[in-house]
Parts: sequence; structure tokens; C-alpha cells
Amino acid sequence: MTITHRPSAGTEAPPILREFWNLHLRRINDEIDRLLPSVDTAPSRLHSAMRHAVLAGGKRLRPILAVATHDAVGGKHDSIYAVAAALELLHTYSLIHDDLPCMDDDNQRRGQPTVHIAYDEATAVLAGDALHALAFEILAHRAPRQVMEIVAHAIGTAGMLGGQMADLEAEGTDPNEAAVVAIHERKTGALFIASAKTGAILAGSNAAVIADIEAYARPLGLAFQIVDDVLELTVDAAQLGKPADSDSRHRKITYPGAVGIEAARERAHELIEEAKAALKDFQGEPAILRALADFVVARNR
Ligand code: IPE
Ligand code: IPE
Ligand code: MG
Ligand code: MG
Repeated sequence: MTITHRPSAGTEAPPILREFWNLHLRRINDEIDRLLPSVDTAPSRLHSAMRHAVLAGGKRLRPILAVATHDAVGGKHDSIYAVAAALELLHTYSLIHDDLPCMDDDNQRRGQPTVHIAYDEATAVLAGDALHALAFEILAHRAPRQVMEIVAHAIGTAGMLGGQMADLEAEGTDPNEAAVVAIHERKTGALFIASAKTGAILAGSNAAVIADIEAYARPLGLAFQIVDDVLELTVDAAQLGKPADSDSRHRKITYPGAVGIEAARERAHELIEEAKAALKDFQGEPAILRALADFVVARNR
């Protein structure tokens, strides 16, 4: 399959970000394509399913974030695109599993049938597992040990998987803001923070820079998931590239469910201002990171 980004990816971004995006997206996608095993190699069906999920498109926000923090501090590490690609493989693994019938039971993702629909459930489980393994193989070869530790921790029970468990356990419960925030910071925010820190660490940043990056990425990740919740209520499935009724079908607790759509939008904007404010003494070039933060709330899918 060739890489078919749906046309609106990044088009709502300001020109400074669009230029950055176009430049680096191609390199990230080339690296992803190079790193994914070929369908001509056995197990062909599994490789095909992995490629289906990853190459269907997607905004590539986590790898873009890693490249952006790396670039913001003048990084020139020759593994940045491979490491950024590994972050996208981890994110895609989480989506394949998130969509399974035993989780959110969704039949569309990135404008394509989900892996368990296009292939079958067992293949979807294995494709997720295989992307997970491949990502750590790449990190083991190309990233410092500190990056592996940060990423592994972020996607484990203290982060993404803990958030996913809490998200499932909260289905049908009374939505309250604190509970939703605790879910969102883990299921989505943790990998955002790890991606942002990864770029800075590869660039050899000092502790003060990494602390600023973390302070930037924390509200950014939460805002991203709040916007995801709002978009599901306000945009149709064709534009989202995934079902627009998934949260309601499962009685998920969501941020707009807890506070209302307007208050959720306002909170996302406040968080984006917090993210940008965290860069006020940044020892680097914050323009792209600020533009990326604005994009997270301006996006329409
Ligand atoms: C979807 O993430 C899952 C969430 C954490 C909300 P994205 O909206 O980044 O999905 P893709 O990668 O663009 O498909
Ligand atoms: C997905 O969250 C989070 C992860 C995959 C870790 P959601 O279930 O809310 O996201 P969508 O709406 O399916 O993309
Ligand atoms: Mg989910
Ligand atoms: Mg889901």
C-alpha cells in the first residue's frame, strides 16, 4: 500500500508550521516505510496488516512533536527520524488494540477499515504486538537508553495502558472532570510527553530544557484528548476517519461529558496557552512548538 494521507492533514496549520510539516512528514513517512517489514517477507499476512494500519495515514503528531523539539534546540542526531518513526509505530499499535471488539469495537480508523475488519481479530492483536516489538527494536538500535526508559514507562501501566484500563473501567460511570483528566493524561498525554522529551534528549538537551519541554507537552497532550472528545461530538465520521459515536455507544466518560462542549473548548484553549507559556524562557527556538500547540486546538480531525 502507498502512503495516502487524507488531504486535510495539516492544512489548517499556519504557514510556518505547514512548511515544517511538509519538510519533515515526508522523511518520517519514508523512514516508517523503510522500517516496516515487506509484505513479500513471511509472515506476509501479518506484515500486510501492520502496513495497513500504519500507512493508512494519520496525522503523525507524535513523531512530528519529537522532530519539532529536536529541531527547536538545534539537534542534528542522525537517528531522529527512525526514533520518531518508532513513536508512530507505538501509537499505531495502541490504535489497533483500542479499536478491537473487546475494547472500543470500532470498524473504521484513519478512513480505512480497522485491522480486525480488514483482516481478522487475531491478526489485529498480533499486528499491534508486532508494531510494539518493532518499535523497541528500533529504539534499542537507534536511541539512548534514557529514551527507551522514558518511552517504555510512558506506554506502561503508569501511562498509556493504565489510562486505557481506567477508560474501560469508567464506562457508564458518572463523568467528573478530575476522573476524565486522570484518564486523558495517561491514555494520551503520557506518550505526548515522552515524544516531546525524546526529541530534546536526542538533541543532547540539558535538564532545564527537558523540564521546559515536559511543561509544554503536559497541557498539550491533555488538550489534544479534550479536542478529540469534542470533535467526536461535533464532526462527522467521514471527516474524522473513524466512527463519531464510539464514546456514546460505550458510555465513555469524556471531558465535554463532564463539563459541556463549550467549557471543554475553553479549557483546551487555556491548556494551549499554558503549553506556550511554558516556553517563555526556553533555551531554543520556540516558534514551531508554539504553532504546533495552536494546531492541536485548531485541527478539525
Ligand atoms: C487518536 O490519535 C487517538 C487518540 C489518542 C485521541 P490521533 O488523532 O493522533 O490519530 P491519528 O494518528 O491522526 O490517526
Ligand atoms: C485512544 O483513545 C487512546 C489510545 C489509543 C491509547 P480513544 O479511544 O478516546 O481515541 P479514538 O477516539 O478511538 O481515536
Ligand atoms: Mg479508547
Ligand atoms: Mg477508541
